[in-house]
Amino acid sequence: KTIYILNGPNLNLLGKRQPEIYGYETLEDVEKLCRAACAEGFDVKLMQSNHEGQLIDWIHEAREAACGIVMNPGAFTHTSIAILDALNAFEGPVMEVHISQVHKRESFRHHSYVSMRADGVIAGLGLEGYAAGTRRVCQLA
Ligand code: DQA
Repeated sequence: KTIYILNGPNLNLLGKRQPEIYGYETLEDVEKLCRAACAEGFDVKLMQSNHEGQLIDWIHEAREAACGIVMNPGAFTHTSIAILDALNAFEGPVMEVHISQVHKRESFRHHSYVSMRADGVIAGLGLEGYAAGTRRVCQLA
């Protein structure tokens, strides 16, 4: 059973971008952490795009190909009704992950469209949030 680990805009720069906020580890490290967090019989597929439509296409693909989704939608979290709609068309568990503690930051980061669909929301645990999200998907899927 495959869990999609979906990452939105600017997360390709993880490890290089604002390391004081997001740390020095990369998406490769995220993939390793998630794989290690999987229960037996599960595996992960990590994807990243800077494009909203690509993320939506992957969520549609997940309807057939994935048993659950762990998603860090980046800034689309706060803007994208289209990603919310796509997630509403997915039937498995969805975990929303933010590396930083968004509620401690600018007020425009306090609202999340994705939270209206997510079965769990994790913020401020650093990369550990992805592992926790993966463990939870394994429990729920
Ligand atoms: C983020 C928080 C968002 O507000 C921001 O736009 C990101 C990353 C996080 O992981 O903390 O790109 O989702």
